Amino acid sequence: MSLHTLRPPAGSESDDSPFPSAYPPAPPLDNDRGEGSLATWTYCAVLWLVPPLGRHLLYAQKRYVCRDGCYWLLYLWREGEAGMGSAVVCDLDWASECATAYLAPLGLRWLHVQSVAAKARQVARMFDRNDCCDLIAAAYLHDIGYAPVLARTGFHPLDGACYLRSLGYERLACLVAHHPEARFEAELRGLGAALVAFPRERSAVADALNYCDQLVGPAGESFSLKERASDIRARYGQGHVVWQAYVRALPYLSLAVGRTRQRLRRCGNSE
Ligand SMILES: [Fe+2]
Repeated sequence: MSLHTLRPPAGSESDDSPFPSAYPPAPPLDNDRGEGSLATWTYCAVLWLVPPLGRHLLYAQKRYVCRDGCYWLLYLWREGEAGMGSAVVCDLDWASECATAYLAPLGLRWLHVQSVAAKARQVARMFDRNDCCDLIAAAYLHDIGYAPVLARTGFHPLDGACYLRSLGYERLACLVAHHPEARFEAELRGLGAALVAFPRERSAVADALNYCDQLVGPAGESFSLKERASDIRARYGQGHVVWQAYVRALPYLSLAVGRTRQRLRRCGNSE
């Protein structure tokens, strides 16, 4: 695995995107700057050689350390944590920075996303390292398609998925594309064929993403599924395509929430 699997491969826009067009440059990683100094490299090497405290310090300070070009040490640390050969597929700092850059100006939407991400951090404890990372990143990025500069179709799961695929985050793209059971609304909007370009993942992680999204209201409130449904009906009205699609998706969302609750109980986690 190359170092670049941890970074959005800038400029690697995929030809598979159904709506290829130029996106604004992705927010840079904090740790993707500078050449590094001998002092910093030495400092990192010493920390690295004194596990576990030194490595935890290294990780805790990575925003400063990596700014000086010692990204590979963080990479080695993460690889060591994950075990040789296992894939670390995304960078949570980048996901949260990307979400902040695009969604913070959107007010209530950003409050919602932050609460969904916070919920995902709790739920993610029941997953292994890779699924944990992907769930939290997907929670940060699930509504990224609402960002006006990323809009291509006006259907946010698809717009978000196209953007994430353009950066090389294929799993995140597919998770985002199909939240919250987006196939129903895509059909009603005539975008079903475009959505099919993103394989639907049926997994505990996909369930958990819907669980987190559905139990958080539009301003970050804690909602029941019933309250979420009532809120969507009140905001859009019964004749709106969003509500019509939501009614069809609701049984599947209810199942996903139920399955996630069961899994949480099995893991000894209460809500
Ligand atoms: Fe959401």
